[in-house]
Amino acid sequence: MVQREYPPSSVHLESEMTPEYRGTLLKLLADQARAELLASHTYSRWVSRTPGPEEKMHLAEIAREETEHWYGTVKLLQELGVSHRDARSYESRHWFYGIVHLLIPRYKWLDILMLTFLIDRGAYLLVEDFAQSSYAPWARFARGVLDEEVGHVDFGNDFVRSQAEKFGSPAVQRALNKWWRVALNMFGPPRTERTDLYIRLGLKFRSNEDRRQAFRYDCEQQILALGLKVPKLYRESYPFL
Ligand SMILES: [Fe+2]
Ligand SMILES: [Fe+2]
Repeated sequence: MVQREYPPSSVHLESEMTPEYRGTLLKLLADQARAELLASHTYSRWVSRTPGPEEKMHLAEIAREETEHWYGTVKLLQELGVSHRDARSYESRHWFYGIVHLLIPRYKWLDILMLTFLIDRGAYLLVEDFAQSSYAPWARFARGVLDEEVGHVDFGNDFVRSQAEKFGSPAVQRALNKWWRVALNMFGPPRTERTDLYIRLGLKFRSNEDRRQAFRYDCEQQILALGLKVPKLYRESYPFL
């Protein structure tokens, strides 16, 4: 197990950073900004298409919060001398974004429901890592984001319940079946060559697999509590099929 060299909140904006630390920090911030922006755009687009008034209010609120998360992340990058346009050159290429972009035009309402139920729960776990970041400004910001993301997770749970009443459990189960493996795959391979680096620099504290396990345990309990079935998998390890 790799040793964490940088304790939580030990690095500040004025601190001397090694090129390795700065480069890794910028990459993770750029990736996070992209994820928040994708969430903001996806939810915003659906505010005008919700089936009822309650859904519209909730979705508008989530869309605003995701936009704020993007904005806050972009501000952290700006303090480090990187504009939101330049941030794009620091992003990593991750298959997940390609797939999600391909699927977005075909989303239906129950797909949005699954994004709030599954994908926001995954987002929460990642922000949990950032809340203990060695980079103090990010740790501070992430703790605020966490309060809102926990609301998104609660909302996802209640939302699945209410939409199952409205559209019937079979329709919700079908959407869940479609998204379950996407959600498990979103965490990426169990460990990458960068995992040790992130942990050593204190920019994350868990591997992809640790986050996936936490997600899976928590989510399966919720699925059962909602009276739904945990979808069957054809392949029980990454990539899940
Ligand atoms: Fe967010
Ligand atoms: Fe969220």
